[in-house]
Amino acid sequence: MDNLNILPTTMIIFGATGDLGKRKLLPALLRLKELKLLPECFNILGFATRKIDDNKFREIVKEAFRTTGITNSSDVSSAIRLEENSYFVSSSFDEMEGYKKLSEKLKEADKKCGQVTNKIFYLATPPSFFPVITDMLDGSGLASKEKGASENPKIIIEKPFGRDLDSATTLNKLVLKHFNEDDIYRIDHYLGKETVQNILFFRFANGIYEPIWNRRYVDHIQITVSEDIGIGSRGKYFEEAGILRDMFQNHIMQLLSLVAMEPPISLEAAAIRNKKIELFNSLRPIEKSEVTNLTVRGQYGGGVLNKEKVNSYREEENVSKESSTETFLALKLFVDNWRWSEVPFYIRTGKRLKKRTTELSIHFKDVPHCLFKDTESGCPKRNVLVLKIQPDEGMSFKLNIKVPGSQDKIDMVDMDFSYKETYGMELPDAYQRLLLDCMLGDSTLFPHKEAIEKSWEYVTRILEGWQELPEPKFPNYGPGSWGPEKADDLIKKDGRLWLTP
Ligand code: BG6
Repeated sequence: MDNLNILPTTMIIFGATGDLGKRKLLPALLRLKELKLLPECFNILGFATRKIDDNKFREIVKEAFRTTGITNSSDVSSAIRLEENSYFVSSSFDEMEGYKKLSEKLKEADKKCGQVTNKIFYLATPPSFFPVITDMLDGSGLASKEKGASENPKIIIEKPFGRDLDSATTLNKLVLKHFNEDDIYRIDHYLGKETVQNILFFRFANGIYEPIWNRRYVDHIQITVSEDIGIGSRGKYFEEAGILRDMFQNHIMQLLSLVAMEPPISLEAAAIRNKKIELFNSLRPIEKSEVTNLTVRGQYGGGVLNKEKVNSYREEENVSKESSTETFLALKLFVDNWRWSEVPFYIRTGKRLKKRTTELSIHFKDVPHCLFKDTESGCPKRNVLVLKIQPDEGMSFKLNIKVPGSQDKIDMVDMDFSYKETYGMELPDAYQRLLLDCMLGDSTLFPHKEAIEKSWEYVTRILEGWQELPEPKFPNYGPGSWGPEKADDLIKKDGRLWLTP
């Protein structure tokens, strides 16, 4: 290509035949190929325990491409090129023999490209395999950190990166033994979403908002990340994770950092990273004595959702009948710094809720003097700015207007911006952007070691607080609701309400 100057590359996907590989990674690579953003010579090398050969893997690749809705001839030819350059190693992740086969296949792939290709290892396996894979890559000489910077292999590590502060620190140490920090890409796919990236653009490309983005004008901030789906076939994983680890520690803390951090001096990875770390350092830790006041856990029961009967969490596959794993979390937190002192941030996330939506809302303070208290409408509601991350990506500003007519009546209306209406296009998938950035060596959208550890420090304290409480009484919310009643109480007791998406 190479309009972006990416050198010939081989991406080795550990766990390539799993759900993430088939649903996200392979389709994202095809989209990049169609957009001519992959190097002319690009190889995909799957490494997994399934007993299949290159040809069978090529069929899997083809099937994954089919889900992207290949329609025109250039799509088809891109797909064929990628399929032909796909290889597979069938091995367990802890067998040196497998890594020897991997070396052989890599040589074969390089030969096809006519040169040594850059290597990217993608760890899309269950997290328990991350340590063994990095060790084996080192043991087989594939993980060298000694080469010239541009030739160093890169490693992409899926979430969850650890399960508490200790395990995240240990994993960081281990990966850093074999790879340079600059070559480690800890992925959080929320950061690849256009609308998540837009939070920074919105804040710092519009002069009018930053002066009011602080405790003087903002009453409180809400973040809602809700899903209507249950945990599906991921019972085993979810039983170990729970929603705090699955959604809050990574995606939501990243959203929080973007909406609350101080302005970075540039868009450079290091500048943004430092501001995020500063923000995480300013979070007021939730002490054990406060955990009941500031957090609410929930677990979904069974019932009917969208006219279909759905299982309770405890009835899902691979879930204990007495499970106390949380599928819902509401939390109130504070950022102890000059800008946000005493401004509450209310956060809620959960499975099997009313609808799928991710949005951040900034609730501005009441007008200082209410001129309308004697009118039919009474005092106006607070202005709210809603950043809609998904599914109806866009923004909306709620403001008060006079209803036409002779009465002094106030109504709250929305000033809307919609990506779809303005650009008329589907937004690219997050993985597309993140895979490309990794190939380009740009780590801006990948959480740094320290940010990961800081976020775990905050979360681990909550986990420890929960451990000391009696077992929660689960299930405590029905499918299609907005979570347990206590989540409403959390915000109501402060005289506020959740914004219904
Ligand atoms: C994943 C979580 O990281 O994000 C899932 O493990 C969750 O539990 C998913 O469903 C949500 O991602 P998205 O992009 O659909 O909002």
